[in-house]
Amino acid sequence: MTAPVTLTRHGDIALLRIDNPPVNALSPGVVAGLASAVDAFEADRSFKALLVHGEGRTFVAGGDINSFDDPHFSAKLYNGTLARIEALDRPVAAALHGTVLGGGLELALACHYRVSVPTAVFGFPEVKLGILPGSLGTQRLPRVAGAELTLDLIGTGRSIDAAAALKAGIVDEVREGEPLQVGLAFVEALIARSAPPRRLSERSVSLEGLPADFFDKALDEASRRKAFYPAARNIVLAVQASTLPFAEGEAVEARLFEELRTSPQSQALRHLFFAERQASKIPGLPKDLSLRPVRSVGIVGAGTMGGGIAMNFANAGIPTVLVETSQEALDRGLKAIRGNYEASAAKGRLTTAQVAERLGLLSGTLDDASLAGCDLVIEAVFENMDLKKQVCARLGQVCKPGAIIATNTSTLDVDVLAEATGRPADVVGTHFFSPANVMRLLEVVRGATTAPDVLATVMQLARTIKKIAVVSGVCYGFIGNRVAEVYMREAEFLMMEGASPAEIDGAVEALGMAMGPCRMLDMAGIDVGAKTVIEYGKAGGLPPDDSYRAVVRRMFELGRFGQKTGVGYYRYDGRKPVTDPETARVAEELAKAHGIARRSDIGAQEIVERLLVPMINEGAKILEEGIAYRPGDIDMVWTSGYGFPDHRGGPIFMADQIGLPVVAERIAHYASVRGNPYGYWTASSLLTDLASQGRKLSDWTAA
Ligand code: 3HC
Ligand code: NAI
Repeated sequence: MTAPVTLTRHGDIALLRIDNPPVNALSPGVVAGLASAVDAFEADRSFKALLVHGEGRTFVAGGDINSFDDPHFSAKLYNGTLARIEALDRPVAAALHGTVLGGGLELALACHYRVSVPTAVFGFPEVKLGILPGSLGTQRLPRVAGAELTLDLIGTGRSIDAAAALKAGIVDEVREGEPLQVGLAFVEALIARSAPPRRLSERSVSLEGLPADFFDKALDEASRRKAFYPAARNIVLAVQASTLPFAEGEAVEARLFEELRTSPQSQALRHLFFAERQASKIPGLPKDLSLRPVRSVGIVGAGTMGGGIAMNFANAGIPTVLVETSQEALDRGLKAIRGNYEASAAKGRLTTAQVAERLGLLSGTLDDASLAGCDLVIEAVFENMDLKKQVCARLGQVCKPGAIIATNTSTLDVDVLAEATGRPADVVGTHFFSPANVMRLLEVVRGATTAPDVLATVMQLARTIKKIAVVSGVCYGFIGNRVAEVYMREAEFLMMEGASPAEIDGAVEALGMAMGPCRMLDMAGIDVGAKTVIEYGKAGGLPPDDSYRAVVRRMFELGRFGQKTGVGYYRYDGRKPVTDPETARVAEELAKAHGIARRSDIGAQEIVERLLVPMINEGAKILEEGIAYRPGDIDMVWTSGYGFPDHRGGPIFMADQIGLPVVAERIAHYASVRGNPYGYWTASSLLTDLASQGRKLSDWTAA
């Protein structure tokens, strides 16, 4: 194995090369290697300059996120090495390419000069991990780019390209070429003109042109708008400290960084960083599996989902044809797509040329024979088993050999649909979320007979269309809606027992949930929710409990479909939900009919427990049944598809934070106070086993 950091000679230039694939993250080995390389450079006076370069696809993409979990983590060695680099008496330059992020940008800023290739991107994404740049990024960046841009970049975590970095003064020059050659030529020019060392820490931060209350306002906004994210406030305070003498600012940054690194919010966000990357991996697939090419796509059904799904492919430059049963439905679908693109253009998110290009990739037809040339066909017709079986059978005939057939069903048995095609190995579920062109989650449903290359192709395609793909096995509701079902079940029982939709939603929204269960179903459509429950009942899936989801079924009977009819659990004043006494009346009437005792003592704590504990329990069942590959997959589904707060890491991560023994005790508690005739409060054996062993759900891996 080669050393992660080497120092070699190129004439008068010392070349410090960082080689820690895949992204040259600052592992302990890299940090130690940097310190040794600086020792060697200091000792050899024959070098006239130092060039820092990243081997492979990128310069350093940041600190090693794994290392932040180490209880003995310390930034001292790295920060000290950066200080030594900056203090060197011979010029030091960084040759930048790829993703110059976080600790990588901090390394570049400690160098005296920076040259970049045009394709490099720059940024401080730490905020997305719930931390701030802890190696003087909050102190050196304002000294070159000003406080305003610094706060913007560090506060949002957004990246900028090389041209913008040049304009901001972050890089000195942008040159085309191979990064190492660009760097060497740049340093040769520095030597030729006897360029002196330049140290950002010796500069001061100018606040000229900024209002006197610039930082106060920023702090106020961070506290109000990002109340769940302590990083937002600490970032403002750290950047504000850059107006102090450098050493004082350094101490402030170190304190604020450490506060965040050990915060539960950052631990949760770091967990999700790795969970997202893990989710794309399919255990047991050969690495060299060749994928099926997907150069054209067909969508059956141009309704709400079909249209949104088609946009994903057009956005990625893949020609897509939509098939409908009537000209009217087709026109409506295409019009909705055009409307969506035009709205994006009106907001300045797309140019007119981009809109034209994307619309040009989309076509519509009533003739399903047009699907014969497609590499992938996704059906998105009504959620009805007979219809879907019919459509799948037809697709089995019309699609060319080797084409992938996917179903967007949200609840139906993918294996039954696969069988209907007559070629089940080609079939997979692709469960998009609404609006499909916006929501990042894609549940990829692996059928019993789905071919490995079909699964792998769809996972790769998800990346192309910028989705977070999570694999689920076949079961009712897959991962996401199966967990949602127990959440909705308890929300309805709480309603019948006497809690109002506002109390129920308020309790979980106070935890950071984007929307409580009642608002969520009002938005998604009570009719859609009720029909699903009714269909599941017909298929024999429901417990023999007449009170099960009784509220949603009654709301449906009453035509209270949610936002679309202006009334559901709430009444809508425009889009604003207002408490409607009729909901309370319906809930009370149902409670009476089903013998459910009414109570007036339901507090927020009980609501949170009654909603979250069953979710955790269902998540554990999903793991023990092998529906999800790993615990983090469930967290990814709920944080990216259902508005579960990312700063809590997802239901499984949260369970571990609470402690499994506590979760198990709460399950037993509600089983005793609520009764358990239908098994609603029967604990998963995985959960109780892990709880008794003092282990965590997150540590669990399938045997
Ligand atoms: N630490 C540890 N591992 C990292 C990492 C990091 N900073 N960045 C990426 N990786 C790993 C990923 O986990 C993944 O591992 P895997 O192959 O085992 O799943 C592998 O590198 C490749 O990553 P991606 O799949 O994400 O590759 P992409 O090419 O899609 O993206 C990237 C590359 C843009 C660099 C993206 O990985 C990324 O955004 N990384 C995080 C960057 C970041 O947050 N930097 C700041 C870190 S905190 C910091 O620097 C603190 C400082 O102030 C000291
Ligand atoms: P929709 O009712 O908006 O659209 C369905 C479309 O399919 C209609 O335009 C209809 O004309 C067309 N269609 C029906 N039979 C057809 C056939 N034989 N050939 C071609 N087109 C046909 O329904 P929506 O909401 O788009 O749902 C579609 C699928 O997506 C369903 O399986 C649903 O469960 C699933 N889904 C829906 C979500 C949602 O929030 N709406 C979320 C995730 C999945």
